[in-house]
Amino acid sequence: MLVYIKENFDDMSKAGARIVADLVRKKPNCVLGFATGGTPLGMYKELIRLHKNEGLDFSKVTTFNLDEYVGLPPEHDQSYHYFMWENLFKHINVDRRFVHIPMGMAQDIDRFCEWYEAQIEKAGGIDLQILGIGANGHIAFNEPGSSLGSRTRIKTLTGTTREANARFFKNPDEVPKYAITMGVGTIMDAKELLLLASGEGKADAIAATCEGPITAKWPATIVQMHRYAFVIVDKAAASKLTMKYTD
Ligand code: GLP
Repeated sequence: MLVYIKENFDDMSKAGARIVADLVRKKPNCVLGFATGGTPLGMYKELIRLHKNEGLDFSKVTTFNLDEYVGLPPEHDQSYHYFMWENLFKHINVDRRFVHIPMGMAQDIDRFCEWYEAQIEKAGGIDLQILGIGANGHIAFNEPGSSLGSRTRIKTLTGTTREANARFFKNPDEVPKYAITMGVGTIMDAKELLLLASGEGKADAIAATCEGPITAKWPATIVQMHRYAFVIVDKAAASKLTMKYTD
């Protein structure tokens, strides 16, 4: 695990974007795993800038998103479909046919999840999976207690996650109770991981992820078992780390 501590959100975002851009340049037909939430937004802005100013070409890239709320149609402004198109995809030259985001409106969710896993495999696996982290240590929507070997499936969201995400909804009761999420095992199969975290609210989760024992109580701790994981955090998110790291 390579841990980089950056001065602030902007530096964290730029460092993350550099890793993604290097891969896209080296392997134009790479498979990228994308995440939603406030954390990757700065990195997505930088990728858009690199596309517009430096011609970073996404036309051959295949994408898989981590998760989606159950019951939200793609056009809902809080769906992760909407988030990805608004904040990244519509600003770059990604090919719509190569974009995969879990379908929150799937009729048969179990079948959909099997299909999603098969699509990842068919694409040759994910080369680089971008991750945020919940204050409770969740990755994607793998809440505490999730099997560390889990695959794509439906999960019930915890009260704390629903509260944390209520800030995006008009009314907290509108936050869905379920989500489709890649499993911890699915995420761990990616060839490289890039986990970003910013702000003091993530400090406990980052301390557990980098220095704590591996436990399903903090699902992100499994990242310690990955051979090629980058963890890029700002100073506030790093404030509870005790070991020495690169900056
Ligand atoms: C959400 C998402 C995660 C995300 C996390 C943190 O619930 N399912 O993929 O990493 O919570 O979100 P944020 O970056 O807004 O703090």
